[in-house]
Amino acid sequence: MSMAQPGMTEVQSDVTEAQSGMSGAQPGMTMERADIAFEVNGAAVSVCVPPVRRLSSVLRDELRLTGTKVGCDAGDCGACTVLVDGEPVCACLMSAASAAGTVVTTVEGLANGRLSALQASFLDHGAAQCGICTPGLLIAATALLERTPNPTEAETQDALGGVLCRCTGYRKIVAAVMDAGRFASEFSKDGAAPHPPAGTFSPYSDGEKRQAPAPAFPSPRSDRRMPISGHAVGSSPIRLDGLPKITGGEKFGGDSFPAEALAVLVVRSPHYHARFAFGDLDSWVKAHPGIVGVFTAADIPGKNCFGVIAPFADQPALAENFSRFRGEAVALVAGEREAILDLDLADFPVRWTELPHFLQPCEAQAGGAKLIHENRPANLLTTGFVERGDPEAALADAAFTVSGAIDTSYVEHAYIEPEAGYAYMDGDTLVVVACTQAPYMDRDDVAKVLGLAVDKVRIVPTATGGGFGSKLDVSLQPLIGLVAMKTGRPAALAYTRNESMISTTKRHPAEMKATIAADADGRVIGMVFAGDFNTGAYASWGPTVANRVPVHASGPYATPNYRAEGRAIHTNGPISGAFRGFGVPQATIMQETLYDELAEKLGLDRLDFRLNNCLRNGSETVTGQRLESGVGIAECLEALRPHWKRALADADTFNSANETRKRGVGVASCWYGCGNTSLPNPSTIRVGISASGDVVLHQGAVDIGQGSNTVIAQICADAVGLPLEKFRLKSADTAITPDAGKTSASRQTFVTGKAAEKAGRALRETMLRFANVSEKAAVALDGTSLIIREGEATRHIDLSTLKADADGLVFRAEESYDPPTLPLDAKGQGKPYAVYGYGAQIAELEVDLKLGTVKLIKITAAHDVGKAINPLLAEGQIEGGIAQGIGMALMEEYIPGRTENLHDYLIPTIGDVPPIETILIEVPDPEGPCGAKGLGEHVLIPTAPAILNAIRHATGVLVAKLPATPSRIRAAIRDKEARR
Ligand code: FES
Ligand code: FES
Repeated sequence: MSMAQPGMTEVQSDVTEAQSGMSGAQPGMTMERADIAFEVNGAAVSVCVPPVRRLSSVLRDELRLTGTKVGCDAGDCGACTVLVDGEPVCACLMSAASAAGTVVTTVEGLANGRLSALQASFLDHGAAQCGICTPGLLIAATALLERTPNPTEAETQDALGGVLCRCTGYRKIVAAVMDAGRFASEFSKDGAAPHPPAGTFSPYSDGEKRQAPAPAFPSPRSDRRMPISGHAVGSSPIRLDGLPKITGGEKFGGDSFPAEALAVLVVRSPHYHARFAFGDLDSWVKAHPGIVGVFTAADIPGKNCFGVIAPFADQPALAENFSRFRGEAVALVAGEREAILDLDLADFPVRWTELPHFLQPCEAQAGGAKLIHENRPANLLTTGFVERGDPEAALADAAFTVSGAIDTSYVEHAYIEPEAGYAYMDGDTLVVVACTQAPYMDRDDVAKVLGLAVDKVRIVPTATGGGFGSKLDVSLQPLIGLVAMKTGRPAALAYTRNESMISTTKRHPAEMKATIAADADGRVIGMVFAGDFNTGAYASWGPTVANRVPVHASGPYATPNYRAEGRAIHTNGPISGAFRGFGVPQATIMQETLYDELAEKLGLDRLDFRLNNCLRNGSETVTGQRLESGVGIAECLEALRPHWKRALADADTFNSANETRKRGVGVASCWYGCGNTSLPNPSTIRVGISASGDVVLHQGAVDIGQGSNTVIAQICADAVGLPLEKFRLKSADTAITPDAGKTSASRQTFVTGKAAEKAGRALRETMLRFANVSEKAAVALDGTSLIIREGEATRHIDLSTLKADADGLVFRAEESYDPPTLPLDAKGQGKPYAVYGYGAQIAELEVDLKLGTVKLIKITAAHDVGKAINPLLAEGQIEGGIAQGIGMALMEEYIPGRTENLHDYLIPTIGDVPPIETILIEVPDPEGPCGAKGLGEHVLIPTAPAILNAIRHATGVLVAKLPATPSRIRAAIRDKEARR
């Protein structure tokens, strides 16, 4: 599927095949087809397609080899990498005609009935998180290992440099490739695995539309054995959903479209702000064979307005008369797939009248500026506020104060999987099968827009190829739902890369100012912070950002006198929403860079200064919340101390010997409240024992790569007292699994994990009560036999003789957990979160003073996770978050109209992420399951400020506009030199 945009002729990388230049076809011309024969994965195939069709499309759409992924259709992401005659190529850049007579290998061909050593190594190292990039990486690495069986790190980075991963931070991928030889040597002569499977099993027992294959491949021996009963927490087994990610069997949003589905094309606004009117749509449809219909806002049967935070919901699924941002959807074209592929929208009957627009908050707030939403004066969406003590007096009386201002840019989520899915009617129920982070929120929004009862909408999440916050908002769900409802046929849509980037949410650009004061002893005594956050045309998660920032802008430091205000301001820019941290990463840059300046003024070591001021058990936060226990920031900073000393000494040595290149070392901390801010935030987990002797876990928390499928099961396993290998997952499906909330705000391990712990204990109690034994009894499963031992007595219960319920369960339990929080008052005082996580990172880097370029040398990260439920997955989260922090610090800047593809918008590649040393700190929080805290957002927060502080250490200049590109660093150095 492709998307075309009338009037958006500058967007060339994501055009339809007819427009792509590959075809040579004229718009509207039906392309000639040809029989093209080649070999795929050892089998001869022949397809009849237009010769210019992309090989990626032939593999996926004609041959159903959907292990080959499409992230950009432009040669930028490498997700489509396949071997052609043994060489890695981007299948999206190769025509079908060019493939004639060649030998093609896709990810499905790597295993050959058994996992390859490389695949086994990927599993063992946890090198696949969401897994969308994994096929491309496996293929590129296979080619490398053919040539170089024992590659160096540099050779690995060179070979994999063209394949992007947004989740992992690449370090585990590099390790897996370099370690593949170890797995090869464990194979027997014919390549067969000499050892039994190391605990791989199907993560899905429901299978509805997900089509995840049962494991077909025995795995070679792994060090990561399934933990024994009672020891799941704290172990790092191979992730339960890992196998399909490395065989190509995982089904993402665009991987299982029904053959009979209508293709859907979205007509989008080419203008930031415009009035529009349609011409004769019926005639246009009739003039285009294969087009079934055009749908506009007038066809929407419900309330054409969605939004994640109900009081602020303001976004139409299809704009009505006015578009408020570039890329806004205004109409849908539905048709047969081939007709849509060949469609040119140049004659689509829509007239645009461009209107004045604002892209900057200062323009939108200027006197007399036109309101983007009539009910929001001064284009102000909302304000968050926290005040404690008397900040003005504290600043006035302080021995030392520092002030500064920092601006940040739009940051694109850049997950490798653009939004994709399909919808169909199942009787009178609309079923939407799509990638998402929030199935229950999607259900409610789709029902509202389409005028359906909530129980007449079913959301079935596919595997999700990265989300990082953006897939919390609905995107295509109401659109494909509308087409399915109106036509009665399945409707399928996969956003192009350009479409994904222009229409979905971003990280808020921020304009921040702050002053921090300390007394003569180096104690922070006051802080004032103000931040304007460009929230774009619609609300999305703007209210959350505005409210979360003032709570966190102090950092994890005792700040007795404090005022912070966060404002979310509308513009006609891209919608800003949720992105790993909800504004806290931006605010932390402001605070942590000022902390360095303050330490310097005080003549204190920067790490010591932070330790002197950090929160401890018994401290009160800026919202007046007393933290009784579980505060681990001091432990994180202490753990960094030896690394800090070594890094500073290394930098001194280097700098004394070099003039034009200078090393710098920076440190920064984070804290982050897990879950919603002062709002209900429940998760419910159901777990039971089936008549066939499986533990069935109804786990509705969507695993977008972070590992909740495995972590939640680990917690539950130990709570029940049964081994993890007995667990079978029923993953999120709004018709089957109870609501485990959204995957955001670092809440799943904490909130859903706690629900899983409670449900596991309740299930155990149910079984023990049935057996009439005490709570000390041990339980085990052997086939259909439930074995209960207490003292010398052993009892066998034949599960197959018990009556099963509608879910096939003979014992069951369902429990919910909602973190105990309290509302914030008018001054932002209260208990916004039940649990916080903490962390600190050191960045070591080298700056070329002449060029302004930065070479990262090492990141050392200490994070307090309370209890590391799965240390390998925790490390993976930390490395992935750091990579995104590196991007935010040094290269990522989404500029509407200019960087709307992965060619012009840069994210870190495998060569951009330096070695990362992770230190897991475990200061348990009694509220968390097994003491665990959340981690996902925290890990990104300290990276950018640590890097900025390191650049300042190296150069003497603070770059006040992110990203710190070479030109900005160079300009700052020049300014400093000019001031001398
Ligand atoms: Fe081919 Fe991105 S899909 S390089
Ligand atoms: Fe690489 Fe998700 S695991 S993009």
